[in-house]
Amino acid sequence: MTFQVTVSSSGHHFECGSDETILAAGLRAGVGLPHGCKNGACGACKGRILSGQAVLGKFQEKTLTAEEQAQGFSLFCCATPQSDVTIDVREVAIGEFASKKLPTRIAKIEKLSPDVMLLCLQLPATEKFAFRAGQYIDFLLRDGKRRSYSMANAAHTSDQISLHIRHMPGGLFTDQVFSTLKERDILRIEGPQGSFYLQQDSDKPIILLASGTGFAPIKAIIEDALEQKITRPMTLYWGGRRPADLYMSQLCLDWAQSVPGFTYIPVISDALPEDNWNGRSGFVHQAVLDDYPDLSAVQVYACGAPVVINSAKRDFVALAHLPAEEFFSDSFISEADLA
Ligand code: FES
Repeated sequence: MTFQVTVSSSGHHFECGSDETILAAGLRAGVGLPHGCKNGACGACKGRILSGQAVLGKFQEKTLTAEEQAQGFSLFCCATPQSDVTIDVREVAIGEFASKKLPTRIAKIEKLSPDVMLLCLQLPATEKFAFRAGQYIDFLLRDGKRRSYSMANAAHTSDQISLHIRHMPGGLFTDQVFSTLKERDILRIEGPQGSFYLQQDSDKPIILLASGTGFAPIKAIIEDALEQKITRPMTLYWGGRRPADLYMSQLCLDWAQSVPGFTYIPVISDALPEDNWNGRSGFVHQAVLDDYPDLSAVQVYACGAPVVINSAKRDFVALAHLPAEEFFSDSFISEADLA
C-alpha cells in the first residue's frame, strides 16, 4: 500500500509505500530530509509524526529514547507509514549529487597520529564524482557490511578524496587500515551521502565544533568556504583527549593567522603532565558555552562522537538559546555500534 507523507512546515509531500522508510521515499522524491547513517544509529533524521500512524522500525535505543517516542518522535530512516502522515522535520538544502558505487585505488596511506590514518583514494578518471563538502562515503566491504567515513577535503581540491580513520582495535575495517591495506589496493565505495554541509542561505556567523576525527568534514567545510570566499565569521572549536588527538592543529593555526574572521580554539579534556598543555581544558562543547552564553544569532556545525553531539545540541538549545534548526551535525557511528 502507498500513503502520502506531508512535511508540515513546507507542505512538501511525497508517496511512500508501507514497506519503505519515510526517509528513502522522501529522498527519492527530492525532498531534503536530513539524514546520516540511514541505520537508526545517529539520530540525524529524527523528527515528529504530527498525525497518522507509522511503525517505528528497528533502531538503537539510545538514538530514540522512550520519552521521545512518547512525544511522537521517530527516526525517519527506520519508520514506515501505516496511513497518510504529516511530519515535522527541518528540511535541508538537498544534495544535488547522485550517489553511486565506484572502485577507488589507495593513492596514499599515512599516519597523522598514532591512531589516526590519512587515506587518500584516487577516483576513476572516467567517472565524475561530485559531492558537497561535509558529506561522507561508505566503504562496501566483502561481507556486505559498510563503513562510513566523512570526506576531509573539499571537492575543488583534487581528483582524490581523503579520509581520517581512527583505529578502533578489533574493528573489522580499521584493523585492516592499520595493518594490511597498502597503496594501490582497490576499495569499493558508495557516495556521496549525507546532508551535513554548509547551508548557504544564511549569513549568520558559524561555529564549528569537532571532536577527534570529527574534524574531517569540518575541515572540508572550511576549505570549501574559503574557496567560495564566504566571509561569514568562523570559529572552530576542536576537542580531543590529549594534544596528539588534534592531529592537524597546525593547519588550523595557519587559518587563524591568514584568514580574516577565522578563530581556532583547541580544547583538551585529559591532558597528562608530560603534554605540557596550557590551553583550554574540559569538554569542547562546554568551551563553546563558556565563550558564547548566547547562541541565538549563530549557526553551529558539529561532528564527532554521539555523546559530544547530543550534549552540544541539548545544552546549546536549552542553555544558550540556539534555535534547534540552526544546529547541523554528523555523529560518528563506531564499528561497535554496527557490529
Ligand atoms: S539517518 Fe536515521 S538514525 Fe542516522
